Amino acid sequence: MIMKIQNLDSFQGDRRLPASRTGKRLLDLVLGHEQERPPVWIMRQAGRYLPEYRALRQTAGSFLDLCYTPELAAEVTLQPLRRFPLDAAILFSDILVVPDAMGRTVRFEQGEGPRLEPIRPEDVANLKGEEGLAHLAPVFETVRLVRAGLSPEKTLIGFCGSPWTVATYMIAGRGTTDQGPARLFALQHPEAFAALIDRLVDFSIAYLVEQFRAGCDVVQLFESWAMNLDEVAFAERVIAPNRRIVEGVRAAIPGAPIIGFPRGAAGLVARYVEETGVDMVGLDYGMPVDFANTALPASVGVQGNLDPLRVVVGGEQMRERARSIIAGFSGRRHIFNLGHGIVPETPIAHVEELINLVHNG
Ligand code: CP3
Repeated sequence: MIMKIQNLDSFQGDRRLPASRTGKRLLDLVLGHEQERPPVWIMRQAGRYLPEYRALRQTAGSFLDLCYTPELAAEVTLQPLRRFPLDAAILFSDILVVPDAMGRTVRFEQGEGPRLEPIRPEDVANLKGEEGLAHLAPVFETVRLVRAGLSPEKTLIGFCGSPWTVATYMIAGRGTTDQGPARLFALQHPEAFAALIDRLVDFSIAYLVEQFRAGCDVVQLFESWAMNLDEVAFAERVIAPNRRIVEGVRAAIPGAPIIGFPRGAAGLVARYVEETGVDMVGLDYGMPVDFANTALPASVGVQGNLDPLRVVVGGEQMRERARSIIAGFSGRRHIFNLGHGIVPETPIAHVEELINLVHNG
């Protein structure tokens, strides 16, 4: 049976041909239609800098409970859109629901970040495949609820973690500064590592396809740990799996719009874009605007890339850099965003001012 894919009626099979306009500013830009100002959303726009998030979070039990309670997760997703004139909502969930659904133990310790039971080479064969997707039914229900509560001109962004990034948490059992445990595992246990990446690729394809079917317009692949890899490892662990996800999702949903965010890709960013086939690329705040403009063909759209700490400080430190990013990317498609997630200390007034600046200059 061919499922009708909500919101994707106008997409064409050949992603090089921009599909007709949808009236959603951010989606239209991803599809190749120029806009008179950059669309804007903020990485981690639902979160602890918002008092309404902190209040709801207290009532929800654990962080994963919040992710798996559709009414609450949908409410949290919509909270930033009630405050700010953002162009997109991003599904409230986490990249680590995937290892959770694949049968690994995942916990979030208050103030400490994620903790997982580190995976060993012999555990890889026992990971759940697509049957584990049922565990994420609440996430798809969240997407449907958000869609129903979102104005038609707003874009709904879904996401998953890219396989290497998710694997770094599965292997180390926590976030690490240099991804040392995962880099060693990949070199010492190449077969188990390849099998782990294969499982994550297959699961992520199925997961993203379901997000589109539930009502997402665009998805973002979070490769948050694309740094610290030599060019051989980058090609194997970042480019190849992300390309397989792009191809796999588009095999089910022709023309599916995809933003890739290879944080720290630096000099490898152009290879990442060309070889993965993503529609647009998220740039971290360490990426120089001039370097990106030289390295990337003018047809490649970019997203980013203000340092989140400039929004903590505000004033000219924020405004001048935001204006120079907007001016620097005025010759190509550009979604304004931060170069990584907004931090809990950020004053709400600074976020208001920043979004106003993107709208009105
Ligand atoms: O952007 C959004 O508003 C959507 C929601 C979202 C969350 N996590 C909510 C969250 C998204 C897109 C993510 C992605 C995510 N999660 C990434 C990739 C993006 C990035 O930041 O690089 C990664 C690496 C994770 C893993 C993760 N989740 C970590 C390392 C942490 C702890 C760090 C922290 O900020 O506390 C989380 C927890 C998390 N995910 C929180 C939120 C709002 C905070 C938990 C809480 O509220 O108690």
